[in-house]
Amino acid sequence: MTADLFEAVPDVRASCEAMAEGAVLLRGFARPFESEIIAALRVIVAQAPFRRMFTPGGHQMSMAMTSCGSAGWVTDRSGYRYDGIDPNSGQPWPAMPPVFRVLAVQAAAGAGFADFAPDACLINRYAPGARMSLHQDRDERDFAAPIVSVSLGLPAIFLFGGPKRADKPKRYRLEHGDVVVWGGPSRLFFHGVAPLADGEHAVVGRQRINLTFRKAR
Ligand code: SIN
Ligand code: FE2
Repeated sequence: MTADLFEAVPDVRASCEAMAEGAVLLRGFARPFESEIIAALRVIVAQAPFRRMFTPGGHQMSMAMTSCGSAGWVTDRSGYRYDGIDPNSGQPWPAMPPVFRVLAVQAAAGAGFADFAPDACLINRYAPGARMSLHQDRDERDFAAPIVSVSLGLPAIFLFGGPKRADKPKRYRLEHGDVVVWGGPSRLFFHGVAPLADGEHAVVGRQRINLTFRKAR
């Protein structure tokens, strides 16, 4: 890792958009980290390839997932959980690269959450048409830590609702390098991703990659 990494602290105030109490959109926050993030992602995916998992109800998810960190998120017939072992390989998930952690901690701090210590990074890959239905992130052990979500590649419409499933979500167009942080009063707000529109991103290609950092255990 280079010293530049630590010097590249983006100006948060310039790009901080409030979404709800405890939720902010930091436009372009990940851009200074882009090339190191993508290089680290290649190494992770070589070790723990993307896979389309099944929900406990037997439906195959439209986006493909993998994880890094000491815990990864797994869904299968027996339910949803964090697990230290990648079920595909029987090995621990790839370690969380330092550049991932630095980005997540700086974004959380920029959103007002000091001392974020993520132990899991879920990596979602959306091909055109893939989506994520409205849900809450509630498999983590405690909800004091925020969720930090980094968007790469094709733009997506992020749906951010409220505490109840029926709350009408607001729509945010997330572009390459945008970071959303939600915690505190909005930690359990419903959110999702509309079906991805087709396109070609100059760096990432015909897909969207989303990283979500969590304190899982
Ligand atoms: C998630 O809800 O875990 C991912 C959201 C996204 O892909 O932006
Ligand atoms: Fe989520």
